[in-house]
Amino acid sequence: MHCERVYFYAHPEQALREVEWIHYGRYLDERIKGKPTQYITRRQEFFGREFRVTPDVLIPRPETELLVETVLKLRPALGTFVDVGTGSGCIAVTLALEVRGSGYAVDVSAAALRVARHNASAHDAGVRFVQGDLLSLFADGVFDVVVSNPPYVPLRDMTGMQREVRDWEPHLALFAGESGLAVYERLVPEAWRVLKPGG
Ligand SMILES: C[S@@+](CC[C@H](N)C(=O)[O-])C[C@H]1O[C@@H](n2cnc3c(N)ncnc32)[C@H](O)[C@@H]1O
Repeated sequence: MHCERVYFYAHPEQALREVEWIHYGRYLDERIKGKPTQYITRRQEFFGREFRVTPDVLIPRPETELLVETVLKLRPALGTFVDVGTGSGCIAVTLALEVRGSGYAVDVSAAALRVARHNASAHDAGVRFVQGDLLSLFADGVFDVVVSNPPYVPLRDMTGMQREVRDWEPHLALFAGESGLAVYERLVPEAWRVLKPGG
């Protein structure tokens, strides 16, 4: 219906038009098949802002707001930053907007980067996006902050996962080898390499 929730509750008399019934039926069918609501509405709120999400990106989780808060607490002025595995761009865009600064964001997925670029431009955030494997494209000692919410689910956990996650979210965003630590094991030494002293 393209209306605010408050309008929806204030107008119980408003009937759906035929075209709205048709859309509703399609959305309901998708939801019954397990598609997460955020991939149906194509949006998710993060840190008080709306982000576009598609099945090419992980749906931003509320817990990840804690990561942003922690970075802002540790480094209120932020400096030069890079977000590794940016997905929808929610972390990088939020950091850039919160400090009115700019930074970099990397993802290995070109499709995810298209969504992230859309989000950065929708919010007019100063983030430069690059496609690459972790931090391999960056020189030594250039960043004050490296932030990341990398994939960390062990492959062996796949069978027991909620179907909304396992069957719909990108596996590249979820799984990190048998132990779940495959990305961390490469990311931590790389982060040390690209950080400035004291970063
Ligand atoms: C858990 S998701 C996080 C997405 C987003 N930062 C968030 O917090 O909602 C991990 C992201 O890392 C990306 N990724 C996985 N392996 C990567 C690699 N080797 N180099 C760069 N990005 C990678 C995935 O494509 C995915 O977008």
